Amino acid sequence: MELTNLIFEKAPIALVTVNRPKALNALNVRVVEELAQVLRDVRHDPAVRAMIITGAGDRAFVAGADIAAMTEMSTVEGLEFCRLGHRVMQSMEELPIPIIAAVNGFALGGGLELAMACDMIVASDKARFGQPEINLALIPGFGGTQRLPRRIGHPRARQLILTGDMIDARTALEWGLINQVVAPDQLLPAARQLAEKIASKSPITVREAKAALIAAATMTEDAGLKLEQQAFGVCFASADRVEGTRAFVEKRDPKWQGK
Ligand code: CAA
Repeated sequence: MELTNLIFEKAPIALVTVNRPKALNALNVRVVEELAQVLRDVRHDPAVRAMIITGAGDRAFVAGADIAAMTEMSTVEGLEFCRLGHRVMQSMEELPIPIIAAVNGFALGGGLELAMACDMIVASDKARFGQPEINLALIPGFGGTQRLPRRIGHPRARQLILTGDMIDARTALEWGLINQVVAPDQLLPAARQLAEKIASKSPITVREAKAALIAAATMTEDAGLKLEQQAFGVCFASADRVEGTRAFVEKRDPKWQGK
């Protein structure tokens, strides 16, 4: 499929830009399918070590699902759209490399859900966050009812989802929704710096750490603790672990093989 709504710059730190600035980068079926395609591509290319996702223009990261497109959908199509969104958000969470959301403006509805499917969120001080679906007689449909309370706790998640109100970047930082707030011109450099730092670690270890962290949000504590033991075992069995521990003892920088 030709990418017409996303700009995909494939590199060791890949950059994906949702590119519908006239509609504030709203997500329609095509955008979400293109995102699925990019994720498949990245998943099968070990040269890509991290991904940054952002929005085109200076107003929005993603202002949600495309409301105009939803007015044309039948009930079945609406449900299929919701399921498609869920599949793609889950494959982002399960991607073995880190994804950093660089939020340059509005991250609303499906836009906030997209950001929450990333590992970390860096925002410009112009960013605004919210789940305003209630104003459309809808609820979050790409995972927001589950991911938001896990990130910021139930009282604040209920406030956002039940009022539809937006919060600014400083509040989002204070609430633990995002990792960092920077000036707009520092957004991509800050996201890149974070991505590069993670990409400089052993890819096996990053993959296993990410899998164990996902378990913390999706499994019981008991099951998650068991998964951590297996993940630790995988790391321990790797050539990179032998190299990492030896390099420390020998007081030198490690050289990762990704094995
Ligand atoms: N879908 C489609 N088009 C959208 C859009 C969306 N989610 N958000 C904005 N746009 C379009 C507007 O229709 C407008 O287009 P025109 O110029 O052709 O009229 C353009 O983007 C600019 O938007 P505004 O004129 O509204 O800009 P503003 O500065 O006055 O307001 C805003 C900005 C507060 C973000 C406002 O656009 C807004 O409230 N957008 C909708 C946000 C929303 O409700 N998101 C949730 C969608 S539902 C969802 O996401 C479900 C889910 O969980 C999967």
